[in-house]
Amino acid sequence: MCGIVGYIGPQNAAPIILDGLKRLEYRGYDSAGLAVIQDSQIALRRNVGKLDNLIKMVEEDPVSGNIGIGHTRWATHGEPSQRNAHPHISMNGDVVVVHNGIVENFLELRSELSSEGVVFQSETDTEVIVHLIERYMSTQDDLTEATRRAVRHLHGSQAVVVMSVREPDRLVAVRIGNAGGVAIGLGEDENFIASDIPAILEHTRHMVFLESRQMATVTADGYMIQTLDGAPVLSRLVTIPWNPMSAELGEYKHFMQKEIFEQGRALTDTLRGRIDFETGEVTLPDLKLTPDEAIRINKIITTACGTSAYSALVGKFLFEELARIPVEVDYASEFRYRNPVIDENTTILAITQSGETVDTLAAIEEAQEKGAKVWSIVNAIGSQAMRVADGYITMQAGPEIGVASTKAFTTSLADQFLLALYLGQLRGTVSPAESRTHAQNLARLPDLVGSVLENAAQYEALAAELSNYENFLYLGRGINYPIALEGALKLKEISYIHAEGYPAGEMKHGPIALISEEMPVLAIALRDHVYEKMLSQIEQAKARGGVVIAVATEGDDMIAQKVDHVLYVPEVPYLLSPIVSVIPLQLLAYYIAVRRGADVDKPRNLAKSVTVE
Ligand code: AGP
Repeated sequence: MCGIVGYIGPQNAAPIILDGLKRLEYRGYDSAGLAVIQDSQIALRRNVGKLDNLIKMVEEDPVSGNIGIGHTRWATHGEPSQRNAHPHISMNGDVVVVHNGIVENFLELRSELSSEGVVFQSETDTEVIVHLIERYMSTQDDLTEATRRAVRHLHGSQAVVVMSVREPDRLVAVRIGNAGGVAIGLGEDENFIASDIPAILEHTRHMVFLESRQMATVTADGYMIQTLDGAPVLSRLVTIPWNPMSAELGEYKHFMQKEIFEQGRALTDTLRGRIDFETGEVTLPDLKLTPDEAIRINKIITTACGTSAYSALVGKFLFEELARIPVEVDYASEFRYRNPVIDENTTILAITQSGETVDTLAAIEEAQEKGAKVWSIVNAIGSQAMRVADGYITMQAGPEIGVASTKAFTTSLADQFLLALYLGQLRGTVSPAESRTHAQNLARLPDLVGSVLENAAQYEALAAELSNYENFLYLGRGINYPIALEGALKLKEISYIHAEGYPAGEMKHGPIALISEEMPVLAIALRDHVYEKMLSQIEQAKARGGVVIAVATEGDDMIAQKVDHVLYVPEVPYLLSPIVSVIPLQLLAYYIAVRRGADVDKPRNLAKSVTVE
């Protein structure tokens, strides 16, 4: 959602803020702005549209000062416009605020403040925050105290950063609920605030992260974290392992392209240090799991959103096959509003690349309130889902910038395989000999992924033939049914083509009515136990004039006679096949979107991390 960057230190704040906001562009936004204290005044620059419009405005009308805050806005209240862009300023011009989240009671606060004589300049909910802070600063509160008192009035999840000319040596940041993260970057005689790590990673790798209902007062030479009730908090310093380069585009055209091609390396990093490739023994110390606890687990409920939910659907096969634990998979937005059957032996697994998805965080909260143990599989180091879970496994994929998730998907599958194998070892449902075989198969995975990526030119050529269709149907069965869903999501979210994923066995129950030469069918038909069934679905589609493209196993010459195009992938064990079968679909979606001139890394209406409902 919205991007936030703050700076205080000896350097000119504006270039640091603008560069940080640029690194958050992938989060999706429609306007941007910054404020700097210059000659004891707040200098405000805001513009609608892309960040370049703000950069141009600042070039034409420069600001200079060594403390400032900036923001990229994804409109929730009030249309994208200059006056609705953040930062928002108090009536006396002393205080400015940037904000991520939704003030759910802003209408009531707006009318209360208006009755006190406040004249609102925008339609946003955010503006009520800065006027509340002004109200309390006028009663001699300092900035921290005034902010604390002001945010107590707010309902909903918020991330807020505040600056005032009356206290030009500090910034104040607040986090309530799950409206996106607040990271404090610790430099040499300078400090940074950001809603996401990539914004400030080139300046420092040493960060502390606010938890919900915590606030920080940040100066150039230090910081103090308290609860909203004023109690001091001992924060945990996190050193981010990513190097700044890994968040750069390099020789690629788009971050999504880079991240698709990084998957071999990412999987290597995911596996590193977690499995002994000789013995097959898995170690996942961040889970803090004992053999007794592993044996007592009688159900896993996996909850997630979007691509992560499809990863969870694959995981169901892994946990049930390797650990013999029944698994329910539920969209987080559904889980949090149903009354799930949870007992002390139910484990909740939340999968989230960003670790900040509001529905997934709410599902975690709900599960913990019901007494369940919660694990999370996350990519963003230091994210809320990593911190609030009882145990976690990181994806180790490095920063995923493209809105369409790719390397996080495949590494989350690898994480679930490791977890299922680990549980199987602890529960005795996987023998040492089987563990060794699984380890050997995992060891081959990065190279197998690399060999699929070598077919990129074939996928790009096929994309040229397919890019004018307006409807696609993706079919899969068994463990590759979720890959049909994921392949369809990849295409729809970056090319805006309507694409549906379906269990192939359901064709006769409806979708077959849609088949025509106007709607290509993507069928995942690997040489597994449901191959014959897939063939018959393919024949049914062909018989109705459909264009069929099959993802098939290398060496399967027969299928080539039945379909229009074949995308071959190397033979891999059934339980690992989704990690390989998804890659042609990622690339096909990417190349089709590029041919259609879509904004691949920042698709319309989408954000990298959905921190509002
Ligand atoms: C995937 O390509 C989409 N960008 C989206 O569905 C995403 O997977 C979903 O919003 C969940 O994000 P998370 O993994 O960060 O929780």
